[in-house]
Amino acid sequence: MSSFESQVVIVTGGALGIGGATARRFAKEGAKVLIADFNEEAATKNVNLILSQGGIAAFSHIDISKSEDVNRMVQEAIRQFGGVDVLVQNAFSVVAGENNIHGSAVTVKEESWDYGMDVMLKALYLGAKHCIPHMQRKQFGNIINIASVHSFLQEPNMLVYETAKAAVVGLTRQMAVDFGPDNIRVNAIAPGHIVTEGLQKVWTQNPSGLQFFENQYPLRKTGVPDDIADGIAFLCSEQASFITGHTLVIDGGLSIQLQEKFGIQQGVFARKHPEVQIPDAAYYEEK
Ligand SMILES: NC(=O)c1ccc[n+]([C@@H]2O[C@H](COP(=O)([O-])OP(=O)(O)OC[C@H]3O[C@@H](n4cnc5c(N)ncnc54)[C@H](O)[C@@H]3O)[C@@H](O)[C@H]2O)c1
Repeated sequence: MSSFESQVVIVTGGALGIGGATARRFAKEGAKVLIADFNEEAATKNVNLILSQGGIAAFSHIDISKSEDVNRMVQEAIRQFGGVDVLVQNAFSVVAGENNIHGSAVTVKEESWDYGMDVMLKALYLGAKHCIPHMQRKQFGNIINIASVHSFLQEPNMLVYETAKAAVVGLTRQMAVDFGPDNIRVNAIAPGHIVTEGLQKVWTQNPSGLQFFENQYPLRKTGVPDDIADGIAFLCSEQASFITGHTLVIDGGLSIQLQEKFGIQQGVFARKHPEVQIPDAAYYEEK
């Protein structure tokens, strides 16, 4: 895979999880990485880890839901590193989100709708708006937007997340068409269940629940942040120079299964393993 020597990469949500691994991956391949995040402690830790391994990284303290912060993030990349070659738009946390975005059109709060759309969608438009003029001057750039398997498959009572992530696919295709003539490629990644530091804590409390999840995957495993970092690095590499507007599903085969047979398989699994604590079971039992 090609190296990112001397390229400037912004990773939003680059402190932890998928973004954390992506920041380390680009730094390992010679990029100058700006970690843009609101978790100062975790971001500083990731920057220090990269520096201790001989990489180049800096921290930009931003809340991506605020448009002035998105602008400042791009200005900081330009001031510190001289430009932007890659923008990875990843920040969002279901685990650490301030606003509970769960709910249907009837139950979700209007503030939660606004927050979810600001972080998962508007920030992606703004990030592109501020970065693309610099990429156009160079006639080179890569933008990666993080979507989800939830872009294509609906979980009950997840209006905000499912709507925003579906729109990320459309936004990616639109920007690919608009900026392809400037040699700017725009792609997305749709991850399946990726066990980040935050989710690891959840599964440590309920290891049998993780086993139940793993059984849902044809590869019989859930993903790790490096699986997504690898996909992002590939899409930004020379080997992918003819790929744009694409959403790469990285989900161990989760979303290609026939739903009704898949349901039977999980039912049989639960019967064979009565000790399993099925995640979120209480919520579904109420329904
Ligand atoms: N982990 C999964 O299973 C999974 C699956 C599909 C899609 N995704 C998507 O991947 C992306 C990253 O998820 P993750 O699981 O790695 O999350 P995570 O919680 O492990 O990390 C998210 C990072 O983003 C930062 N962040 C969150 N909101 C922010 C804000 N408003 N401003 C600045 N920084 C902010 C957090 O501080 C954290 O460092 C998200 O877009 C998520 O929807 C995750």
